[in-house]
Parts: sequence; structure tokens; C-alpha cells
Amino acid sequence: MDKYYYITTPIYYVNDVPHIGHAYTTLACDVMARYKRSRGYEVAFLTGTDEHGQKVETAAKANGETPLELADRVVKRFQALWDKLNCTHTDFIRTTQERHKHTVCKQFKKIEAKGDIYLGYYEDWYCTPCETFWTETQLLDGTCPDCGRETSKLKEESYFFKMSKYQDQLIKYIEENPDFIQPKTRRNEILSFVREGLRDLSISRTTFNWGIPVPDNDKHVIYVWFDALTNYISALGYPEDKDGDFKKFWPAVHVIGKDILRFHAVYWPTFLMAAELPLPKTVFAHGWWTVEGQKMSKSLRNVVEPNMLVDKYGVDAIRYFLLREVPFGLDGDFSHSALVHRINSDLANDLGNLVSRSTAMLSKYFDGTLPEAGALDEVDQALVDKFPVALQTVDKQLEEMAFNKALMTIWELISASNKYIDDTAPWALAKDPAQQQRLGTVMYNLLEGIRIIGLLVAPFMPETGARIMQILGSDSNNLNLEGQDQWGGLQAGAQVEKAAPLFPRIETE
Ligand code: MSP
Repeated sequence: MDKYYYITTPIYYVNDVPHIGHAYTTLACDVMARYKRSRGYEVAFLTGTDEHGQKVETAAKANGETPLELADRVVKRFQALWDKLNCTHTDFIRTTQERHKHTVCKQFKKIEAKGDIYLGYYEDWYCTPCETFWTETQLLDGTCPDCGRETSKLKEESYFFKMSKYQDQLIKYIEENPDFIQPKTRRNEILSFVREGLRDLSISRTTFNWGIPVPDNDKHVIYVWFDALTNYISALGYPEDKDGDFKKFWPAVHVIGKDILRFHAVYWPTFLMAAELPLPKTVFAHGWWTVEGQKMSKSLRNVVEPNMLVDKYGVDAIRYFLLREVPFGLDGDFSHSALVHRINSDLANDLGNLVSRSTAMLSKYFDGTLPEAGALDEVDQALVDKFPVALQTVDKQLEEMAFNKALMTIWELISASNKYIDDTAPWALAKDPAQQQRLGTVMYNLLEGIRIIGLLVAPFMPETGARIMQILGSDSNNLNLEGQDQWGGLQAGAQVEKAAPLFPRIETE
């Protein structure tokens, strides 16, 4: 079987600066990308920015700049943040790039040629101050549900996509592919939404200009979601596919927040059906972060800025916290006390102590040279046997994007190793010259376990994974699990560093 894996983040709006919610989606994708790579997959990992639409046009106007000037400025902040968070995306797409506009036009024309796009009139209740259309049922006593002002019936020429035509086909697809929309609760939500009936979708606008013009009718710009969703295939060079990336990598795994699920699980699949393309492998909708119990918002001034967190606590600690604290798919709360608690207990105590205790003992008893392992006792065997089981469990858990569970599985290995130290009491063995070989076996097992733990944590905490390999005298550029996850990889004679604590404890008042 060919091992190709394609994972995508949403493309972020440039009218906002990156915050912890954006970082969360991108980091989850980065963990998957790194894990799959370490398992021998060729990975395409796409992120980027969503730069068209009225929101961006309005934000730029308010700033006295052109939409593209605004985009050029904000896109740098996203790119700098992804670098700082050690993200390994293989491409960064901007919807203002020619390659993207090209694909969007081709896609529009293809669906139009098929007869699934038609010109009609969009008629609904319009709130002029908010520049928003509302349906009859959304109105509150006939007024705008956002601002409470009068609305008026407005008719606008618009292109429509025959979404209704694909209702039954989509229901069938969701029913037959249980992994298509995840988690399950979200799948049920979408199923009942689609069963209620799909209306045709307005896919062009005439009320503003900042977008991709409809081919052959530049009175209209293409609806921002039709434009944005196409990024997932334009980045692969669709339809020409000169480099063969589309053939190789499509279909994708899309990771998104729950707020944009309908666009990804209803609109996007029906566009793809119309274009006769395979549907995404998975659309996984994660939950939302609140901050210290409150919704994150500019007006509350509680937006958590990832750069500041990384400077204060280190990149790996932030990566670990975000993926460990909350089950992927559920909402969660960000608080400084929870972050500090995780750093102190899981990272400094559990993992950090395991590495510093083990390497300190090896340095003291064997001058840092790894001894050979002798025959295994029952207590040794029990430890060694946990590793292949955990490796398999982690694989399954990551396949389901259960990041927190995978980390718990890895932490069981860490706890078991710490307990192994207490049970075997190397300091007592060291006092008895007759136990020299036994001491060597214990030290070997500890450090070999740390090696596999280091490889397992690497997708989550790449700097820590590399640092552990370096401490063990192994190749810190090779963090692959594939080919290195068998017990016995460390060679006797290896020179092991006496490591300073990996994660300093954070003192709290
Ligand atoms: N541009 C669209 C996506 C187009 S994809 C074809 C968009 N952009 S966004 O910048 O507003 O949001 C991007 C992602 O950030 C979404 O997945 C959203 O769920 C996520 N988050 C924004 N705030 C968040 C939290 N407070 N918590 C978790 N994720 C959040 O939507």
C-alpha cells in the first residue's frame, strides 16, 4: 500500500491576528503530520490564509489600506507564529495567489458546464447597517437579530449552486462512511441538518468587489466559502496536476473547528460531488477554547496570544498542554493555573525526573557508558512488555485523533518507568559489587525505555524528542518510530549525557 497522507488546517481569515484557537488547529495537524511521517508516510500538510470577502474588505477600509496590503501584513504574523510553534506544513496557500484563483475559476466553470450552477435572484430580508441577509425565520419580530433595526426585502441577482440536487447522495455517503464526519455527535448533527432539506446555495455576490470575479461575468464575485474551500485542491495543483500531487494526496483529512463544520461537511462535499471528485477522507471538528471560563474576544481583552505563552513557558510545553488538557472534539478552558499545573506535574515531575534520575545514576554508576543488559527478571519483563502494547495503542488513538488519550498512554510508560526505579532500587544494587550485572540490566532497561518514550513524545514535543535522543547519544535528526520502535535499539557502550532537568519547575505564589 502506498503511504500518502494529506492533512489540512482551515485557512485563517486575515482580518484577525492569530490566537490560541488558531494555534490549536494547526498544532493538532502538525502532530498528525509528524506522527505519520515518523511512521513512514509521505505527508502533505497544508495551511494558509483566507483573504477575500467583505469582512477583509471592511477591515482594510477601516485601517486605511487596501485589502491586499492588510493581507500581506497579517499573513506574516501567521507564518511567523507557525515557525515559532515548530509547525512542519509543506505548503502555505493564500487565496490571493494566482494558482488558487486559477483552480477556483476552473472549478466554477466545470460545475457550471455540468448544469449545476444557474443565474437567479436572491431574495431575503436585508439589514443595511449590518450588510447581512436574514431568512424570514431568523428575524426577531421582523427586525435584524444582530442589531435590532428594521430590515427590508431585497432582491439581488446571484449565481446559485444546485445543492438540493445532492441531498440524498450526501445522506447516503454520510451513512455509509462512519468515519467521514467526526466526532460522532457532529456527524449526527449534520445528518439531521441535511435530512431537513438542502436549499440551493447562493454562490456569488454583487454588493462588494474584493473576491474572485465570476468567469465571464465580473459584476459578480464568487462567494467567499466557494472560493476558500477550493484551497484544499488548488494547493495540489488541481486540475492540471502537473506534479502529480492531486493524484497522490487527494482525498484529505480536514481538521477544523466546530463552528465551520457545515461548510466542510455539507457545502464542500456537494461541490466535490458536482465536480465528480472523491470526498474528503475525514472532516474532524474540534471544540472551542474559552479563557479562564469566558469566551475569548477582543472586547473582553482576554485573547490569549500564543507568542507570549511560548516565550514564557517554551514551545513544547504549550504544544503538550493544548493537546493533553482537553479531549479533541470537546470544548475546553484555558487557564494559567491549569497550564502551570500540567508543566509541573506531567513534564517536570514525571518525564523530566525520569530522564534526570536515570541519566544521573548511569553517570554515577557507569560513568555514563551504557552497560549491556543481562537476563531479564520478572519485573524487567513486565516493563519491557508494556512498550509494544503502548505503541499499538498510541497508533490506534492517533488514528482517531484522540491526542489526550495517546498522551495518557505514553504517560503510563513514564509512570511505569519511574515505578521501575523505585521497585529495583538501583542505589541499593550499587552498594553490592555482586549485583553489578543486575544494576547494568536495570540501567539498560531504563534508558532503552526512555529512548522509545522520546520517539513517542516527539510528534507532540519535537524539541524534547530530539533532546532526549541527543542525551542518549543517538541521532537527534532521526525521530522515526518506523524501524526504531523495537526494544533493544540502544547499543551497549553508548555514551549518555548526565542531563539537566528538561523542564524547570514553575514556581507559583
Ligand atoms: N476562513 C475560515 C475558514 C475557511 S476554511 C476553507 C475561518 N477562519 S477563522 O480564522 O475564523 O477560523 C479558523 C479556525 O480557528 C476555525 O477552525 C475556528 O474554529 C478556529 N477557532 C477560532 N477561535 C477558536 C477558539 N476560541 N477555540 C478553538 N478554535 C477556534 O473560519
